[in-house]
Amino acid sequence: MKIKDYIEKLDSYIPGFQPDSNDEEVIKLNANENAFLPSPKVFEALKNLEPNKLRLYPEARSEELRKAIAKVYNVKSSEVLCGNGSDEIIGLIIKVFLAEGEKLATPYPTYTVYKSSASMEGVKCVFVKTDNEFKIDIPGLLKENAEAIFIVNPNAPTGVFLSIGEIKTLLNTYDGLLVIDEAYMDFCTEDATMIKYINEYDNLIVLRTMSKSYSLCGARVGYCFACEKLIAYMDKCRDSYNLNYISQTIACAAMQDEVYHKETVKKVIENRRYLSEKLIELGFEVIPSQTNFLLCKPPKNKIASEIMNELIKVKIYIRYFSSEMLDDKLRISIGTKEEIDKLIKSIRDIL
Ligand SMILES: Cc1ncc(COP(=O)(O)O)c(C=O)c1O
Repeated sequence: MKIKDYIEKLDSYIPGFQPDSNDEEVIKLNANENAFLPSPKVFEALKNLEPNKLRLYPEARSEELRKAIAKVYNVKSSEVLCGNGSDEIIGLIIKVFLAEGEKLATPYPTYTVYKSSASMEGVKCVFVKTDNEFKIDIPGLLKENAEAIFIVNPNAPTGVFLSIGEIKTLLNTYDGLLVIDEAYMDFCTEDATMIKYINEYDNLIVLRTMSKSYSLCGARVGYCFACEKLIAYMDKCRDSYNLNYISQTIACAAMQDEVYHKETVKKVIENRRYLSEKLIELGFEVIPSQTNFLLCKPPKNKIASEIMNELIKVKIYIRYFSSEMLDDKLRISIGTKEEIDKLIKSIRDIL
């Protein structure tokens, strides 16, 4: 049997380590999950699930969820598409809009799923390095003449963000597909979302997820916004029942609880400031972040990977990347105040 050459060579995405979730001593700050519980409305929705509905296929278009999202973001439901996590939508976008042998450009460093999803379709992923402060090089991205550009805004794993003006400058000279992945946008204190421009630019897709600010990683719900024409192409190609009944139901409940969502985001932003101050007190260099994580460099002579390994011994998990520009740094997701205090105490002991 013949396997496609690019599948044979594929380096698939390596997710963050998942420690035993039943161990109450574990502090998990390695996957940018939310430290706070989902909305109480999600608990209520879970209680009211109807087992009989599991016998049937779920609603194919996730129409109720599209409507709930459209209401919150003030767009038409025909400008929304839901996916089994935004990772599914990333794969779908590449499948629909890029052909084998074409090119996708993205900053470096960034979310590495873009490269694996591109490789799965035989699409080449080229990286354009950010500067020393992790600022994204827009002219550099344009120079690649790629069929698509993917930008995480605010970027991961750096936390650095681009303004609407900077993205518009790119859009005004680029006629390929621009995907702005706003997975962390709810934690950004500036108004930088591109959702309101989906009808001004028919080559723009804005990606969101319920994994981060809605605390629903485990439900796998992502969504994106684009003009009706682009959404219709994606709808043609997605799995017919890409969101299961349980996820659709609880995602609707979470989306409708805007008050709780705002409160959670506020707590994460407060804790981000708290963690940043504590790390700076310990001598860390902290990259200013607009997300639910901090990228930071340990004080002189301290090796990032060693700190991560020492923390594992006390069941605290943070993320280390051995790649260029990141190998002297650590990425720490924002926890509760209690988790942050335990982390800081352990780091102090290690130092
Ligand atoms: C930038 C970015 N986009 C997308 C995702 C995936 O989100 P989801 O859980 O919706 O698949 C992540 C997850 O960490 C991410 O960091």
